[in-house]
Amino acid sequence: MNRAPEPAERLLFDEAATLAARAYAPYSGFSVGAVVVGPSGRGHHGVNVENASYPAGLCAERAALAAMVLFGERTLRTVAVAAVEGRDCLPCGLCLQALAEFGDPAIVARLGGEVRVVQLRDLLTAPFAGEAGP
Ligand code: THU
Repeated sequence: MNRAPEPAERLLFDEAATLAARAYAPYSGFSVGAVVVGPSGRGHHGVNVENASYPAGLCAERAALAAMVLFGERTLRTVAVAAVEGRDCLPCGLCLQALAEFGDPAIVARLGGEVRVVQLRDLLTAPFAGEAGP
């Protein structure tokens, strides 16, 4: 179900944790950073961006995903996500669906206080894929 991170995955998590300081989260105080990696191996960065109209807020993972697509990559290998102060944080259901569009990445996140790796489809077993999807 989950495993310990490889050294490179642990570095990605640390990178995401550093990014969290640049989030805009004045409403929740829950700052999050995300790094997503596609076939090139390059890390694409995102942070959460909240809004006075709460539902207009954007999660860090989807911000990073947009950066990856802008760069020209459409396959996810790894997603690292980290919240401030070492708090546990897995991608929300909405982000899992958004990420599933681009594959079944390894997700590196803090679970129960430990940095662990879990596959996206272990968290979201049946993402919506359109009416004609599998
Ligand atoms: N958030 C993320 O950016 N990523 C997650 O994986 C979980 C939650 C953000 C959304 C909101 O700005 C704040 O954290 C509190 O939910």
